[in-house]
Amino acid sequence: MSSNQASHIDQMVADYEMVTRSNTGRSPVDIHPLMTEMRNKCPVMHGDIQQQHGTPSQADYTLSGRPVVTLFRYNDVHTVLKNAKDWENHLFGDGFGDAVDNLLIVAMDGEEHAKLRATLLKPFTRGEVRKQMDSMIRPVVMDEFLAKMRPKGKADLVREFALPFPIRSAYAYFGFPDDEELSSNLASWAIQVVGAPQVDPELAAITVPRSMVAGQAMYDAILPVVQAYRQRGEMRQDIIGHLMQVEHDGSRFTDDQISSLVRSLLLAAGETTTRSFANMMVQLLEHPDVLDEVRQDRSLIPKAVLETLRRDPSTASIARIAARDLEIGGHSIPKGTGILCAVASANRDPEVYEDPDRLWIKRPMRPLLTFGFGPHMCLGMNLALAELEVALDAMLDLPNLRLDPAYPRPVIRGMNLRGPDAVHVLWD
Ligand code: HEM
Repeated sequence: MSSNQASHIDQMVADYEMVTRSNTGRSPVDIHPLMTEMRNKCPVMHGDIQQQHGTPSQADYTLSGRPVVTLFRYNDVHTVLKNAKDWENHLFGDGFGDAVDNLLIVAMDGEEHAKLRATLLKPFTRGEVRKQMDSMIRPVVMDEFLAKMRPKGKADLVREFALPFPIRSAYAYFGFPDDEELSSNLASWAIQVVGAPQVDPELAAITVPRSMVAGQAMYDAILPVVQAYRQRGEMRQDIIGHLMQVEHDGSRFTDDQISSLVRSLLLAAGETTTRSFANMMVQLLEHPDVLDEVRQDRSLIPKAVLETLRRDPSTASIARIAARDLEIGGHSIPKGTGILCAVASANRDPEVYEDPDRLWIKRPMRPLLTFGFGPHMCLGMNLALAELEVALDAMLDLPNLRLDPAYPRPVIRGMNLRGPDAVHVLWD
């Protein structure tokens, strides 16, 4: 690895750790007992569980003091997420939207959201992603990462795989050129944009201006890629190719609009997958019997991916805002109340999941909330699932993969964006 590549990875690791730290605040090392206690004692809580633990909360990123209610039960979270008319999403961009000119599909509501989502949808459908999985995603994982890792016999999976692989594989699917420096810069800037909201004002004085610079840097790096794509004139089955050809409101997107849309999509594409992969590996490595089960029958890979996403989601909460006076779980909710849906708790609600703490890959699944639900359900879900399946398949090619006893056991931490700092492993 060149020293240039190493410093890009160092920057990504530093940005990733900073986000985990601020998402951890004063929360307990293992948040699940807290989630269980709250679900039992106070399933509809008047207050913000994340702010109470000193971490930034999407329900009030700007610390405006709006009233917030936290929901801990699956059925309440499911009810809110599937009804985007009553429980709106425009608060999502508070705290970092300015860095990307507030063009965030997830922060749009109503007709504006439905129309843009329909325009973007085609390359994100399961059919399209599965068609390209073996040509765009698998070669990146196998040739760029696994082949290089295999002879070493050991690795920190966060640093050497989880951080760089989603950007390399997802960016190939976006239609980006094979440019490692560009990819890692974009990934770092994306983390810096999303990492802007902070509870500590001193930290916010650094992260907020930095996110503005990062947002502009993303745009400036994406625009020439889009312009070069158009000049080549060859339209491929990737996301940029789709955005060049699709019509929205009766006209085609300009290069400026495509660059802004791509920037907005990239914010969602990297870190979420990094953390989901790392959380999946920690859970499987902590349960060698389950890892063996998948090793012996790789057709279980999709189930293992879904079960780990359920049991320890990287995005542990989703926020909404009440569009009018409403009611949830028997509580009146005044218009303008922020709603924090504690997905990490809902995913372990025993009303819905038998023996919810158990890592049980053959469990009967219910609609998964880790990617959200309803009109805003993650647009990139099929891409993320394909990446995670290919990545787990690759890991199973490393014989006798196990935790490295020379390092402390990895801990998944954080109230919202959750993940381990490092996952040190060995193989034969
Ligand atoms: C395992 C990885 C991922 C996780 C856990 C995840 C999680 C989520 C969640 C929870 C939401 C819903 C937010 C809400 O309802 O407020 C969401 C929305 C979204 N995600 Fe993902 N995501 C992942 C990967 C990706 C990827 C790879 C992309 C690719 C571009 C992506 C693009 C989006 C977009 C555009 C939305 C907004 C959809 C809308 O509002 O209609 N995500 N994601």
